[in-house]
Amino acid sequence: MGVWWIVVVAILAHTASAAVRVYDWEVEYKFGWPDCKEGMVMAVNGQFPGPTIHALAGDTIVVHLTNKLATEGLVIHWHGIRQLGSPWADGAAGVTQCAINPGETFTYKFTVDKPGTHFYHGHYGMQRTAGLYGSLIIDAAKGKREPLRYDGEFNLLLSDWWHESILSQELGLSSRPMRWIGESQSILINGRGQFNCSIAAQFSNISAQFSNTSLPMCTFKKGDQCAPERLHVEPNKTYRIRLASSTALASLNLAVQGHKLVVVEADGNYIEPFVTDDIDIYSGETYSVLLTTNQDPSQNYWISVGVRGRKPKTPPALTVLNYVTAPTSKPPSSPPPVTPQWNDFERSKNFSKKIFAPRGSPSPPQKSKTRLILLNTQNLIDGFTKWAINNVSLAVPGTPYLGSIKYKLKRGFNRKSPPTSFPMDYDIMNPPRYRNTTQGNGIYIFPFNATVDVILQNANGLDANASEIHPWHLHGHDFWVLGYGDGKFRPGVDEKTYNLRNPPLRNTVALYPYGWTALRFVTDNPGVWFFHCHIEPHLHMGMGVVFAEGLNRIGNIPDEALGCGLTKQFLINRFRP
Ligand code: C2O
Ligand code: CU
Repeated sequence: MGVWWIVVVAILAHTASAAVRVYDWEVEYKFGWPDCKEGMVMAVNGQFPGPTIHALAGDTIVVHLTNKLATEGLVIHWHGIRQLGSPWADGAAGVTQCAINPGETFTYKFTVDKPGTHFYHGHYGMQRTAGLYGSLIIDAAKGKREPLRYDGEFNLLLSDWWHESILSQELGLSSRPMRWIGESQSILINGRGQFNCSIAAQFSNISAQFSNTSLPMCTFKKGDQCAPERLHVEPNKTYRIRLASSTALASLNLAVQGHKLVVVEADGNYIEPFVTDDIDIYSGETYSVLLTTNQDPSQNYWISVGVRGRKPKTPPALTVLNYVTAPTSKPPSSPPPVTPQWNDFERSKNFSKKIFAPRGSPSPPQKSKTRLILLNTQNLIDGFTKWAINNVSLAVPGTPYLGSIKYKLKRGFNRKSPPTSFPMDYDIMNPPRYRNTTQGNGIYIFPFNATVDVILQNANGLDANASEIHPWHLHGHDFWVLGYGDGKFRPGVDEKTYNLRNPPLRNTVALYPYGWTALRFVTDNPGVWFFHCHIEPHLHMGMGVVFAEGLNRIGNIPDEALGCGLTKQFLINRFRP
């Protein structure tokens, strides 16, 4: 009898700790002042950024998402959540579901299986650029502890902000010749930035870097939406600062004046801790850093977030680390940290190469079964600028892949696999010899439980002497980052440099100019998964591929994910009496 009692208590304890968290969300545009200038922002329940979801590992999240936009479809992707067993809740328009029509509600239901720092964002058109994002933070399950010690925490969601509307940006990108969106007007920290003033104007050197006229000092009225959130800390404590970059374009670097950062988490996975003065963060990445308040407690300190990887035309976002022992309004005593040189790519690569799995983590499978080598190029189609992977520029079909596959709809997409490699004599150092490419919607289909290697190969864009950083993000998985290299990947040679001992697990990884990045994952999550450059205009211009795996193991897709295109007709026929 005693044993039964223990079993019952154990079951109750288990169900009590795994909560179901239900949210009712409405998305609409509203006027806002993210960087002190009025613009249209995408808001969730009136909030920009959207509300933070806090959950515990093991919880189930249910979001009833209502589209209150007048004329646009809508989806939300839960970036970093693997959607184990719920691929239809991944929120990638055209891949896992149809865009939700204006006035309609779609329910996302998924479990969050492990602690980590994540975020969510729009994944239709360029709605992420328009401000559709928020934080998603998973703490350890009740009774479990994370292997980190800290006294308090902060959450900084980083983004970039343009004054031009996404409709106009989109039109520019799809015009002939293309009109590039240019650099953002501001960088936002938790949705707040300043475009025409600086909170550090008394140190004229920071603003002078970015314009001929130095920016005036900011003056905020009470409740101003663009006033920075200060971080209030007590001396001699350790704080966890969660960082996530939802930028549309910018690669960022964050530094806290006078303080070291200990990097402990990347993309929802613990890493072997290391100390740094500043941290690079690419779009789609998340980190946790620990900061110890061991500096002069009578002072305040700058937190600065600047642009790297592209010629910066955007002033850094600033806020203040306020020791509660110092007056809140006291400005820091010296100028903010200067963002490292934008084009010091060696420095950027060196930072990436400091990230390892924590000691004691299992090693990845030592061999892989399948290998894709994906060449990233900028091309033209009838004079329209595109990005292509192995010479295919992705255009997702109107009918989501998941439904086409489930119902075996032949016309849903091209069943022929895109190329798994590119001609080995391709000159990655120069603009493409054949500038033209074609659009396609074919996908890579893998068997269940296979080990797959992907080598991302960068190249020169359409203009000479230009190769950009592309942060690649995979849905549905974490992958091991096996290594980075310069130049063209040499099959049979470069594999020898792979780190097969303690590579970090991540869901986003940078591909550096003129270089390659190798990653490995196991196809253990039945579904259809987007893999793409997280720079939103690049994805919009075709820079992505789609992976499908374990297709005969996909469970029952809710009809509401398929209420469009060919699958809609299929469903109608199925229910016709
Ligand atoms: Cu955060 Cu498919 O992206
Ligand atoms: Cu890109």
